Amino acid sequence: MNVSEVSRVAVIGSGTMGPGIAGTFAQAGCEVGLVDLTDDLLRGGMERLRQAQAVLVEAGLLLPDGAADALGRVRPTVRLEAACEGADLVVEAITEDLELKKEMFGRFGALCPAQAVLATNTSGLSITEIARGADRPDRVAGMHFWNPPHIIPLVEVTRGEATADATADLLVGICRRLGKRPILVRHDIPGFVGNRLQFAVMREALHLLSEGVASAEDIDTAMTAGPGLRYGLMGPLRTADLGGLDVFSAISRYLFAELNSSTKPSAILSELVGAGKLGAKSGEGIYTYSSEALDRYLTRRDRVLLKFLDVLNREEGTGDA
Ligand code: NAI
Repeated sequence: MNVSEVSRVAVIGSGTMGPGIAGTFAQAGCEVGLVDLTDDLLRGGMERLRQAQAVLVEAGLLLPDGAADALGRVRPTVRLEAACEGADLVVEAITEDLELKKEMFGRFGALCPAQAVLATNTSGLSITEIARGADRPDRVAGMHFWNPPHIIPLVEVTRGEATADATADLLVGICRRLGKRPILVRHDIPGFVGNRLQFAVMREALHLLSEGVASAEDIDTAMTAGPGLRYGLMGPLRTADLGGLDVFSAISRYLFAELNSSTKPSAILSELVGAGKLGAKSGEGIYTYSSEALDRYLTRRDRVLLKFLDVLNREEGTGDA
């Protein structure tokens, strides 16, 4: 199977990630079956898909007719077998639970065509372990979209121990067809690449907060107005090149030993979670949120991200040496 032959896709799980992933495939012309456990969950997922499309239409990235056509290509269903029948590709986006995922991959064998490729959107569980549940581990790989999946370009294609070259190549090619920026993660390691980078920063940010070195707002500003602004254009490795490797080496010599290296979750996180303060979804976390403020914040996040992406896309080819 080559990239252009992929026309039927099954997306399993219609929570935070599934709808945006389904819409992304539908916008690229694929017929998509979107699966969840109940009609209510599917209704919620389709509503989130419509909202995601509205943001893209407002940004001029999707024509209203194109959005309607794409929506018409997404078929919500509680019947896993209906979505898997004739599927070229399955993207599993159910709850982040290894046993549930293994069990799901065990079911695909009897429901999907023999040549279908099976991908998991896991954030960091072992692809090798998930593939053990499948009848075709060579055709299983990670396909980790980032939230919000209709906007963020990164998709991490991760090889499990048994993943065939052709499977990884196909998924990378499909991501490009979707207009995404795939990376190939060659080794199946927890957190892949993106979350390892993200959580290294998160650990230090929480450490700085717990030590009272700066306020939460100031720690966030240190990233958004500083290195974070640059990271959209060039990653940490090119940043080091441009800053001078001798300079970065000298700083590393005194700073690496000072950085937080705890192997336990931060006490701040544990305390907040223990008190039911889960962040935006419970109205309070490190910051507090009213539901109106949260809506405004998310809308602004998507608008600004799309504008930023637009600028980067226009600059494509001129930023990378
Ligand atoms: P979620 O909890 O919002 O949605 C999961 C959905 O899967 C639920 O609607 C649930 O009813 C459904 N589900 C569970 N078992 C099922 C089954 N047997 N058949 C059909 N549907 C079933 O989870 P979310 O956040 O969408 O995450 C899904 C996957 O994507 C996880 O592996 C997660 O780690 C990963 N992911 C999540 C991101 C995020 O920011 N939320 C970002 C990137 C990846």
